[in-house]
This record gives sequence, structure tokens and C-alpha cells, in this order.
Amino acid sequence: MSLGQKVARRATRAADRFRGARRLGADAGSGAQAGQGLGLGGRLPARGGPLLGAGSNVRTIGDGSLTVGRGVVVAHGAQVAVFGRLSIGDDTTIGDHFHCNATESIAIGARCELSWRVTIMDTDFHRFTELDGSEKPMRAAVEIGDHVLIGAGATILKGVTIGDGAVIGAGSVVARDVPAGWIVAGNPAKQIREIADWA
Ligand SMILES: CC(C)(COP(=O)(O)OP(=O)(O)OC[C@H]1O[C@@H](n2cnc3c(N)ncnc32)[C@H](O)[C@@H]1OP(=O)(O)O)[C@@H](O)C(=O)NCCC(=O)NCCS
Repeated sequence: MSLGQKVARRATRAADRFRGARRLGADAGSGAQAGQGLGLGGRLPARGGPLLGAGSNVRTIGDGSLTVGRGVVVAHGAQVAVFGRLSIGDDTTIGDHFHCNATESIAIGARCELSWRVTIMDTDFHRFTELDGSEKPMRAAVEIGDHVLIGAGATILKGVTIGDGAVIGAGSVVARDVPAGWIVAGNPAKQIREIADWA
């Protein structure tokens, strides 16, 4: 199957799955920075622009900035709050009930598939004072490479970098970096094996 056919098949599947979904504003479809109120009554996207499922709440707060690539699909019930920076690369698909809090920076690459009920946060939301009075940083950027598969119900915690082509098992809690091309799973997620590719 040619790349063009694959892209067409993916676009058709996405359209079928999210028919009737609310659409992100046209500005977001160009990969430009999108403003507050994204997807809530925005204009129809340009062809290939992103889709946002019903009941989703995607907000930029204060100086928060959101960059969404072309062909991005976010299913229903997403809860996304961007105080810092969030970027989602081209042709990434995100399942229902995605929870994401970007207080510093979360970058999700292109051609990723995030299953349903995935959570990504770059902060603990709370500070912990150690016995010696010190405090660790509460926030740390999250970076997810291209073509990463994140299984159902997985949680990605602050400071994690996930390499290109990695796979995160269902229900995993990822607190440490994941090398490119590795499957990891469990709580805490551990390396299972290296793979050549996934589809
Ligand atoms: C991670 C995954 C891809 C691995 O599949 P696999 O290669 O067939 O793995 P196996 O079943 O051979 O398991 C290998 C080991 O990893 C463990 N494991 C696999 N998936 C796990 C998971 N999600 N959480 C914890 N441990 C897991 C197994 O128990 C096994 O451990 P053992 O060697 O000690 O017995 C798969 O289990 C998974 O989680 N898929 C996610 C599916 C999903 O969410 N899809 C989204 C739909 S869009």
C-alpha cells in the first residue's frame, strides 16, 4: 500500500470514527498557535485540519500556548489545560477522555497514537518538602517522539522523554525515560523488549 493510500485510509477511518465531532478552529489546522476557546464554536477547519470530539474541554490559560499539527484527531471527552506549552504533531490520533495538564511544556510528536484514557502531566501539582527542608522541582517538561503508541489508560508523568517508535503498555505508569523503539509496560513501566516497528 502506497503512502498516499495509507494517508487516505487513515483520514477515512478518522472521519468515520469522529463523524459529528466538533472541529477545532481553522487557525489550529494550519499548525499555528491556537487561542483560548479552541473548538468551542470555532470555524470549520481547512481540509485536513484537526477534529475535536464532543464534550472536550481544551483551554489555554494565561500565557499558555497550544500548537496543533495537520490531521490531528482528539476523540470525545478530552480535558486539556495549557498553562505552559503543548504541541501535538501532524497526524497524531488521541482517544477519548484524554487528560493533559501542561504547566511547563509537553510536546507530542507526529504520527503518534494515544489510546483512550491516557493521562499526561508535566507537574505533580504539589510540592514536597524533604526531611532536610529541600524541595525537588515540581515541574519538568515531557517530550514524546514521533510514531509513539500509548496504550489504554497509561499515565505519563513529569520529566519523561519517550523516544521515537516506542510503545507504552496499557495501564502503565511511566516515570522514567523510554528509549526509542522499546516496548515498556507496568507500574512503574519497565522495558520489555526492543521492536523494529509497530502498526
Ligand atoms: C505492552 C504490550 C503491547 C505487550 O504485548 P506483548 O508483546 O504481547 O507482551 P506479552 O503479553 O508477551 O508480555 C510480555 C511481558 O510484559 C508484561 N506486560 C505486557 N503488557 C503489560 C501491561 N500493559 N502492563 C504490565 N505488564 C505487561 C507481561 O505480563 C509479560 O511479563 P512476563 O514476561 O513477566 O510474563 C501489550 O501487553 C499492551 O499493553 N498493549 C496495549 C494495548 C492497547 O492499549 N491498545 C490501545 C488500543 S488503541
